[in-house]
Amino acid sequence: MVKTIEWKDNRVLMLDQSRLPHEVIYVECTDYHKVAEGIRKLWIRGAPAIGIAAAMGIALGAQEIIAGNFDELVEEMQPIFNTLLGTRPTAVNIHWAVVRIKKFLQENNRESIDRLKQMLIDESNRILEEDIAVNKAIGEWGAQFIRDGDTILTHCNAGSLATGGYGTATAPMLVAKEQGKSIHVIADETRPVLQGARLTSWELMQSGIPVTLITDNTAGALMKRGLIDLAIVGTDRTTRNGDVANKIGTYTVAVLCREHGIPFYVAAPLSSIDFDMASGDLIPIEERSADEVRTVNGHQVAPEGVNVINLAFDVTPAKFVSAFFTEKGAFKPRDLKKLMREDIDLDSTRLQH
Ligand code: MRU
Repeated sequence: MVKTIEWKDNRVLMLDQSRLPHEVIYVECTDYHKVAEGIRKLWIRGAPAIGIAAAMGIALGAQEIIAGNFDELVEEMQPIFNTLLGTRPTAVNIHWAVVRIKKFLQENNRESIDRLKQMLIDESNRILEEDIAVNKAIGEWGAQFIRDGDTILTHCNAGSLATGGYGTATAPMLVAKEQGKSIHVIADETRPVLQGARLTSWELMQSGIPVTLITDNTAGALMKRGLIDLAIVGTDRTTRNGDVANKIGTYTVAVLCREHGIPFYVAAPLSSIDFDMASGDLIPIEERSADEVRTVNGHQVAPEGVNVINLAFDVTPAKFVSAFFTEKGAFKPRDLKKLMREDIDLDSTRLQH
């Protein structure tokens, strides 16, 4: 498994995913501005991975601050928070990481500034480690919904590269394989920047999971021929009613699944669930440069100056989701909000297969 991101020698190293699969090159970030640039330019992408990058960027930025006391430190850190929050709006994970770090700082406000700086590094590494454990748990719950011989459709990349490791949508596939089930994955190429073609197919081939790449517009035809048994995708932000923001084209997959009676599952770590947001129409949707659509791999494929709409994400209404795979179990969309509360018996709420 290649490392997506790591803290090393007071630097953040991130795998430049924009160069994959041709080149495996790590970018060295020595300040938080570089981390923010990496998130914006998709050197690192995928909701959990950019949450981890934000936490490491905050830790990196804090090392440069000269502060006489705790309040000064927190004040000086505001531009770091704001810069990272301003990179990509749709995935809730950056916001989640900032909230977690702010709370962590308040809980440790009696520590010396030097000690706090070190603690921020440790906390960002903890976020990375926890993410891997969360994904493994998602894998254990989700694998129960995969049968021997299944063909699974996935969209975009919600794999190891999109997380600290193991992936969210890919975790059930990896566990199913470990359990000895024979599975086959169909990966949508995922225009415009081809995360499925460049990243998912590359990752799955390395994991020894048979994978077939299709253009995005082939999925419906394969479903009609009875060649897809289930779909599993990731999420950038799921609201508390179960609406799912994920890579553009996910909504199309979900509607096609409904039409063909195919289960549509969403792998969602709690860090990607926005319990403060009531429904998907409130999710800010990132719009990216027109050139991503006018070009393929740097080659212009459309007339110069043609108008473009380039929404990076869409929102799939909860009614299309068969179940969410979380680290706490599999749940129906209507039960998702119960995960906010500590007093609910999850054993009786979990969806059994
Ligand atoms: O624009 P990207 O590549 O960051 O979009 C990524 C996705 O849409 C993923 O499916 C999502 O972040 C889940 S990653 C576990």
